[in-house]
Formats: sequence, C-alpha cells, structure tokens
Amino acid sequence: EKGGYDYFMLKEIAEQPKAVADTLLGRIDASGSLRLDEIRIPVSVLREVDKVVIVACGTAFHAGMIAKYAIEHWTRIPCETELASEFRYRDPIMDSRTLVIAISQSGETMDTLMALRHAREQGAKVLAICNTNGSTIPRESDAVLYTHAGPEVAVASTKAFLTQLVACYLVALYLGQVRGTKWGDEIQAVIRELSEIGTQVDEVLETMEPVRELARTLATKNTVLFLGRHVGYPVALEGALKLKELAYMHAEGFAAGELKHGPIALIEDDLPVVVVVPSPRGRSVLHDKIVSNIQEIRARGARTIVIAERGDEAVAPYADHLIEIPPTPTLLQPLVATVPLQVFACELATARGNEVDQPRNLAKSVTVE
Ligand code: M6R
Repeated sequence: EKGGYDYFMLKEIAEQPKAVADTLLGRIDASGSLRLDEIRIPVSVLREVDKVVIVACGTAFHAGMIAKYAIEHWTRIPCETELASEFRYRDPIMDSRTLVIAISQSGETMDTLMALRHAREQGAKVLAICNTNGSTIPRESDAVLYTHAGPEVAVASTKAFLTQLVACYLVALYLGQVRGTKWGDEIQAVIRELSEIGTQVDEVLETMEPVRELARTLATKNTVLFLGRHVGYPVALEGALKLKELAYMHAEGFAAGELKHGPIALIEDDLPVVVVVPSPRGRSVLHDKIVSNIQEIRARGARTIVIAERGDEAVAPYADHLIEIPPTPTLLQPLVATVPLQVFACELATARGNEVDQPRNLAKSVTVE
C-alpha cells in the first residue's frame, strides 16, 4: 500500500503533482474563470465580507499564513490568520460580515473545531478547507472546499499542505472574481500559472537527490535555522516544523528581517541556515534584502543552504548549497519552495534512524484541546 516507497511520507511527497491537479480539477472553466459554486455561501454575502479570519493549527496554520498574503493582495479585504488554539480565548471581534476560513486536513482537530464553533456563535460565516469528506469540521461549517488530496497517512503533512495552499489561492481568487476587486490581467495570469503548477512541482521532485545527500551530511547537527520573507516566511516555519517533528532536531524559522533584532546572535561557525529566496523578478526589493541577510549570516560563519529561483545569479555566490526551483509568480512560490524542505526533513529523519511515518509523541489527528 506504500506503492513501492519505504514510507507513506515519501509516497505522499511524490503524489503532490497529482494532488494539486486534483484540487484544481473542475474548478477552472474553459474561459479561465473560477467555478466554485460548491461554496454555498451566496455571492451576495461574499460581496459584503469586510474581514477574513483564518484559523488552523500546525502545517495548516502555515498554509493560512500564506493565504493571508494572497487574500489581501487579490481582494483588498483585511485578513488575519490566527492559531486556532489561541483564537477564542482572546475574545475576537466578528459579525455577519466576517468570513472565517477553517483549514484542516483531518477535519477533526479539536482546536480548529472549537474556534469555528466560537465564530459561528458570533454570527460569522465559516468556510472549511478540508481533506476528509464528511468529517466534523466541514459538517459544522456553512460551506466546504475539499482539497481532494486523497488519504494522507504519514503524521507529517505534505500533500495536504500543498493542496490547502491551492484551495486557499482558489478562495482568494474567487473572492477577487465575485467582488471585481483587482480582477484583471494579474488574476487571469495567476489562474493560468496555477493550472500548470503540478508540472513545476514535478520538476522540483526530479531534482531532489542533492538535497537528500546534503541532509545525510547534516545528520549529526543539533540545530538548523530557516529564514524567509513575505510568503517565504511561513515556508521557513513549515521547514522548521517538519524538521522538529521528523528529525527531533532544534529547528527554528524566522522572518529574515527579524535577524538583526535578536536571532543573528545564534549564528556560529558551520551552523546550517536554510534561506528561502523570493523571485528576483516581482518584489525585487525583498530579493535584494534577503541577499544581504545571506551575506550577513555567512560572514558570521553560517553554512547557507539557499532555495532560489533557477537562474538567480545575484544569490548564487553566497550559497554554500544552492537548491534551484522553477520560476513562479511570487505568491505561488510556496508550492515549489516547500517541497525540498519536506524531502530534507524526511531524509534527515531516516539518517537519524527515526520512524518517519509515526514520529514519537505525535498523532495524525489531534482530537483533544
Ligand atoms: O488535520 P489538521 O490539518 O487540522 O492538523 C493540524 C496539525 O495538527 C497538523 O498540520 C500537524 O501540524 C502536522 N503533523 C504537521 O506536519
């Protein structure tokens, strides 16, 4: 049932191109517009939404952090992403014009369920993004968009994450479409790129051998840091989470701009630091800033492991290890940038002799608060 792979996690990583294609299936029509009638919240209600709040845990929370950038950019609706376990305890402000998006692979995560119940009590509309048909979270929501990733068995979430991202982009673009905000060439182009993203994920998977080799050489390290900016920041957090849960290593993700506010003190000789670099096209200011961050940490001895767009010559000289990913629009980059981090964590776990599919102390669904 592992389809010839040693672990479910490896199988699920490999299934990602198909999984993202399945999330898109039937949701983009021939003219390139989105068909999301399955979101049974009336368009009139979606047009009136004045705030979006995303609640989720763990990896799904990282998808939600990325969704915030997409929703605010494409729809201009203010959006917050909050850890489901914190949400209801701070007395959040919501009303009937608030759209709450609950993201959950299993649909059974108690923290997320309690957050959505609280939101509905306040009159908010709740849309679930979920992978498990008929599970509790979609049943208790006003609407659901299923990710259709197929069953995810490994405790560490991989294909569910990529498909949650695709579903979030679809929701963001759909809100843009029904509200007419910023609806134009950029959104059309992104829908086109999104419909081909599976091919790019496949390309990344084809080039993972050097990442596996690198991971094996780091098996005796105690700490790995991850840096990113913009949507690369949640990707860095996701890379760190994967490494914690699978390799049981001290791993931390930072927003690269925060380095100088404290974390740079952690840098010491030969400390591996993974840096997710945004495209040199698009938000080039961010690109230049992260290149200087890489120079700063390298000057202090860090071993830089750089994930950058193919052909990014400005960053290459400062990369001790360069992991190239295909060009994508900035907001979609997490779909390709996360894959090497999944492979990296899986290989490190194997090299350290850990149980990949069933890490210690963890359960696939966390059904207690
Ligand atoms: O089923 P859910 O998406 O609600 O689960 C949320 C988290 O428990 C989950 O993503 C967890 O962080 C994973 N083990 C991460 O790989």
